[in-house]
Amino acid sequence: MITNARIASTGSYLPERVMTNSELETLVDTTDDWIMARTGIRERRIAAPDQSSLDLAEQAALAAMKQGGFTADDIDLIVLATCTPEKVFPSTACLLQERLGIHGCAAFDVQAACAGFIYAFGTANSFIRSGMAKRALVIGSETMSRVIDWTDRSTCVIFADGAGAVILEATEEPGVLSTHLHADGAYKDLLEVPGWVSDDYDQGYETAPYMKMKGNEVFKVAVRELGRSVEEALAANDMERDQVDWLIPHQANIRIINAVAKRLQLPEERVVKTIERHGNTSAASVPLALDEACRDGRIQRGQVILLEAFGGGFAWGSALAVY
Ligand code: COA
Repeated sequence: MITNARIASTGSYLPERVMTNSELETLVDTTDDWIMARTGIRERRIAAPDQSSLDLAEQAALAAMKQGGFTADDIDLIVLATCTPEKVFPSTACLLQERLGIHGCAAFDVQAACAGFIYAFGTANSFIRSGMAKRALVIGSETMSRVIDWTDRSTCVIFADGAGAVILEATEEPGVLSTHLHADGAYKDLLEVPGWVSDDYDQGYETAPYMKMKGNEVFKVAVRELGRSVEEALAANDMERDQVDWLIPHQANIRIINAVAKRLQLPEERVVKTIERHGNTSAASVPLALDEACRDGRIQRGQVILLEAFGGGFAWGSALAVY
């Protein structure tokens, strides 16, 4: 018998504070119309000053554990995706493990920027398939607001905060069908947060620890590679486009989402879109969207779901699963 990993439950958490496009109009030279037309974002959530990626992850994890009826003893692996960790170390996964009262199991962070959740999901899937874990807590949690330059209109209108979690468990039924992870560091300069660990704090930052993005160039590679990646997932499983019930894309830009959906010839009503209300929450965006569509009953057990994400590195990937 082959062991698969199935999505047993999901959870998510969004900070309370809503930041609208109108509020951004007071910070930088932009308009609600421009942001909506070019990105599809109307509002986003921003963490409270005392809330960290760990706090957001804890709420999302507790929601997923509650939904699945799992206790701390049921979890034997934690993989947490973030590019805005609580500390340099220990990993946010270890800090979360302590918060949840889980002891002894493997817990580590995955850093693949906005593709982080797909990487974490793929990693946990491999652990389960190889028999190294039975029930994994997989999380994407970000406080992107901490690395935003609030004077840079090309990024501050896009990124946001949130967390999403999935519990994957071993099963002999169908579950995750395949995951496909890619990266190309040759694109390192197009989307980055320069500086930080090696900088001399006493002298001030030579390179501020804020995000920089060449949005237009990122856009083109994202559309191309995400298109390839979803087709790769279908080909690996000998599946046709019309066998996909739901596309749950990374919520980076409505135009990127629509371009990938078009390539799959998927009608709009089979694409989960949260970008208008969530903005780009980096590694949290896919599990946030997945949780929303599972909880409101759109995604039903037995349906085929296709996840994809793209981000800094560049790192990108896709995952095909039976929910
Ligand atoms: N408000 C108003 N104007 C803005 C603006 C803003 N918030 N941000 C940029 N502009 C201006 C630019 O300065 C430029 O002006 P110019 O023509 O006078 O030079 C113009 O709008 C067009 O800029 P451009 O960067 O070409 O816009 P775009 O259509 O590519 O949209 C992004 C910008 C960032 C929304 C888009 O490129 C994008 O979404 N990129 C990919 C993001 C992504 O996927 N990230 C990786 C995954 S996390």
